[in-house]
Amino acid sequence: MKVLLATQKPFAAAAVAGIRSIVEEAGHELVLLEKYAEQSDLVAAAAEADAMIVRSDKVTAEVVEAAKNLKIVVRAGAGFDNLDLAACTAHKVVAMNTPGQNSNAVAELAVAMMIFMARTQFTPATGTEIQGKTVGIQAFGNVGRLVGAKAKALGMNVKAIDPFLTKEQIVAGGAEPAETLEELYSSCDYVSIHIPATLQTIGSIGYELVTKMPKGATLVNTARKEVIDEAGLEKALEERPDLKYVTDVAPDNLAVLQEKFGLRVFATPKKMGAQTAEANVNAGLAAARQICDFFATGCTKFQLNK
Ligand code: 3PG
Repeated sequence: MKVLLATQKPFAAAAVAGIRSIVEEAGHELVLLEKYAEQSDLVAAAAEADAMIVRSDKVTAEVVEAAKNLKIVVRAGAGFDNLDLAACTAHKVVAMNTPGQNSNAVAELAVAMMIFMARTQFTPATGTEIQGKTVGIQAFGNVGRLVGAKAKALGMNVKAIDPFLTKEQIVAGGAEPAETLEELYSSCDYVSIHIPATLQTIGSIGYELVTKMPKGATLVNTARKEVIDEAGLEKALEERPDLKYVTDVAPDNLAVLQEKFGLRVFATPKKMGAQTAEANVNAGLAAARQICDFFATGCTKFQLNK
């Protein structure tokens, strides 16, 4: 079988080597498409593939339709908003992710971002400490729980909310449950966002929630830019000169935000939450194993389009 590893943002060399040995030892062929310039490059490469491993690469209906031999696509990572699941289902393509494999990398970045903003982007200006402050975790899944544990170890109070968890489960995960999202935002010095981009969450964090945050608070987004209502955020930052926003996913209005709010806003130049050697290896190798298991035994653990 031809396994296409299509990564516009390539994995570390060690991860690619590990993927190659898993794929080849199982008797398959690895085809590499890295740093491609156009979506049409992905469409063309997909045409020959029996299986695909991707990161945030866009597996659109066009890609799935062009991939006549495709049987399985694995998103090496957690968020699968880049996969057209309906198209996969329509073409009998099994779609999977690799949950948890890159969570620690994202959680470490979220904590680093809190400290970076607390210390005014590592400029000599007097900053603040995160010890003794409260972080609110919006969605207490794999990443959220790790952020909570790390924040606790740094002396922070941890609150959390998650529509899919009971209060008992949140307590068991080491956080104090917030009754409502409004309560989380109004009682936390930092809110760290860990929700996926779905029809329900897109544009869901804006003026109303952000302006509820206490004086000097910071919003931390290592999730998806789409969950932010950017105009609402801009208005909130305009009205509240004490608030800060730090994000791993540059908003469309970044230039405006940076010009207006200077050191109160920071965005990484490229999404880098999962960009560690360890996360690349964990997610990449898991994806390769899931594909080989699927071909060998029909295993569909982690299938998203059941
Ligand atoms: C994820 O959803 O797993 C992360 O956002 C990582 O995305 P990436 O593979 O594009 O870095």
